[in-house]
Amino acid sequence: MSATASHRSRETEERATTRRPGEVVGVSEAILGRTSIRAFTSQPLEAGLLRQILDVARYAPSGSNMQPWRMIAVAGEARDRVVDAVRDRQAGEDAGDEAGDHPIRPSPIWEPYRTRRFKVAEDMYGKLGIPRSDKPARLRFLAGNAEFFGAPVGLFFVIDRNLGHSQWAHLGMLMQTVALAAYERGVASCMQEFWASTRQTLARHFDLPPHEMIYCGMALGFADETAPVNTLRSDRASLDEICEFRGFIPE
Ligand SMILES: Cc1cc2nc3c(=O)[nH]c(=O)nc-3n(C[C@H](O)[C@H](O)[C@H](O)COP(=O)(O)O)c2cc1C
Repeated sequence: MSATASHRSRETEERATTRRPGEVVGVSEAILGRTSIRAFTSQPLEAGLLRQILDVARYAPSGSNMQPWRMIAVAGEARDRVVDAVRDRQAGEDAGDEAGDHPIRPSPIWEPYRTRRFKVAEDMYGKLGIPRSDKPARLRFLAGNAEFFGAPVGLFFVIDRNLGHSQWAHLGMLMQTVALAAYERGVASCMQEFWASTRQTLARHFDLPPHEMIYCGMALGFADETAPVNTLRSDRASLDEICEFRGFIPE
């Protein structure tokens, strides 16, 4: 498939969200095929398959090969205990954003980020059939983050809080590599910075040492193919909007 053809199929929402077992997928196909999945089936994700994914993903590059990351994977009762801990905390009197000195995003947000953020949210709620006026329903959907959107596995990305912004970027490379290696094996994912808002609860829950913090989480499992939200295909700025080409001979 040419890059143009695969890009077109992305835009027209013809791509499947899951892979058949054993189906070979090229790198470009995986990049274009991976989407955030926000409704999972109850099918368990076996430890062996998860290990395969993470064993490949640990070859993600990082500056000076520092590998500034650690992961915590939870399934079964361990997963449920995380969900319970966060639910208890949210129901408590001290509920609030726990992102601390590393907020999820600046507030207020400015252009062009504001419009892009608004657009993907509207597209998602459009798929869900939830109008802007129905704020409670939107909040109920967002609360699904705290249950990994029903995924059987939660993966947490841990970083040493003394590292700098470069190392946070390197951690992003690991995350995308995990998502692509998962996609290659028919495993769906949703990255979840939502978990940063429960950072202190998670630190207590996992008994993290003071120098460590959870940057982000990821839901992993099998996509519910019947869920309209999983048909969302977020758009992207055009190449010419995001890349300046200098010094090339015009074709
Ligand atoms: C680091 C990171 C954190 C994210 N956190 C969340 C989250 O907390 N909840 C959620 O529903 N989606 C989350 N997303 C998914 C983004 O909204 C999504 O990647 C973006 O809209 C592009 O869509 P796509 O992943 O389907 O290509 C996150 C994505 C990234 C890369």
